[in-house]
Amino acid sequence: MKILVTGGTGYIGAHTIVELQQHGFEVVIADNLSNSFADVVDAIKEITAIRPVFEQIDLADAAQTKALFAKHPDIVGVIHFAAFKAVGESTKLPLKYYHNNLFSLVNLLNTMQEFDVNTLVFSSSCTVYGQPETLPVDEKAAIQKALSPYGNTKQIAEDIISDTIKASPLKAIMLRYFNPIGAHESALIGELPIGIPNNLVPFITQTTIGKRDCLQVFGNDYDTPDGTCIRDYIHVVDLAKAHVLALSRLMEKKNDAPCEVFNLGTGTGYSVLEAIQAFERVSGRKLNYKIVERRAGDVEKIWADTHLANTVLGWKAEKGLDDMMRSAWNWELKLSEKKN
Ligand code: UD1
Repeated sequence: MKILVTGGTGYIGAHTIVELQQHGFEVVIADNLSNSFADVVDAIKEITAIRPVFEQIDLADAAQTKALFAKHPDIVGVIHFAAFKAVGESTKLPLKYYHNNLFSLVNLLNTMQEFDVNTLVFSSSCTVYGQPETLPVDEKAAIQKALSPYGNTKQIAEDIISDTIKASPLKAIMLRYFNPIGAHESALIGELPIGIPNNLVPFITQTTIGKRDCLQVFGNDYDTPDGTCIRDYIHVVDLAKAHVLALSRLMEKKNDAPCEVFNLGTGTGYSVLEAIQAFERVSGRKLNYKIVERRAGDVEKIWADTHLANTVLGWKAEKGLDDMMRSAWNWELKLSEKKN
């Protein structure tokens, strides 16, 4: 079965392709390489012994999207990752985010309709919950006004998909990720931020390897046990596996409704300081960090109710915080070996 993976050279996309190929799916990647590198395809080949087809195209361009489906008329399903994801940048360049994240989705859905491809797994985010009133947060929690244009593109994308489902044969599973971190155990693929990382774990590993001077911990006056924000960190390989289950559920027509939503997290929240301690424990290195002001737009605490994913999707995160940090550190070490 041939699956189109958009954003397939990106962080979560690449890990998902490894799992897909190991489960017998054939993969076509569509990526414009705006935030990733083509050699990820070689790394996927090295891990799985299968080279996915790679098409460098821009999904925000309708003609290119159509040409892609015309070239691969045997695509039967799509996993849509391709999107910009830097929260801070999105507040400075909102139109860049609305244009890229939403035009590409609309083009994709239009073209899927035209080619009668009716199966979609969509990469959404816990950002749609804002600061939930009750924790852990489940899928029925209210969607709150987005704190950033990036977050808004995820909310609007969910609406675009569910409206399209009401008016067409499309069926979809929307996966709301909590905080994906870590890397494949081979250390051949991992998170590769271009420029200064926005996210916590790449910043931790880059500081420890010497690429950055000091990690800034954004605020220690939150209403949490140690005052720093709490997140539900999830190993990217666990996350990748959930995509295979979601896709198979749709393919095998086991879905209960044409549009389903699942939280993907571990169900446990850790503070920034706990994350740092875990990193120091598994790496045996001391991290240089200092407490600074809060970062605008950060939610105080969030972690997932994963009951639905556990019982309905048959998925459960297996790896703990130490595994996540160890694999992230191994990946950073491997990157520095490559450079030297
Ligand atoms: C954010 C988005 C999420 C998005 C993800 C992708 C929100 C609420 N969350 O996650 O939807 O999918 O980015 O980029 O919009 N931290 C530091 N110092 C740093 C970096 C981070 O202390 O240098 C802290 C943050 O304050 C936060 C935690 O580490 O408490 C995790 O931050 P980060 O990795 O950036 O992820 P989120 O902001 O949770």
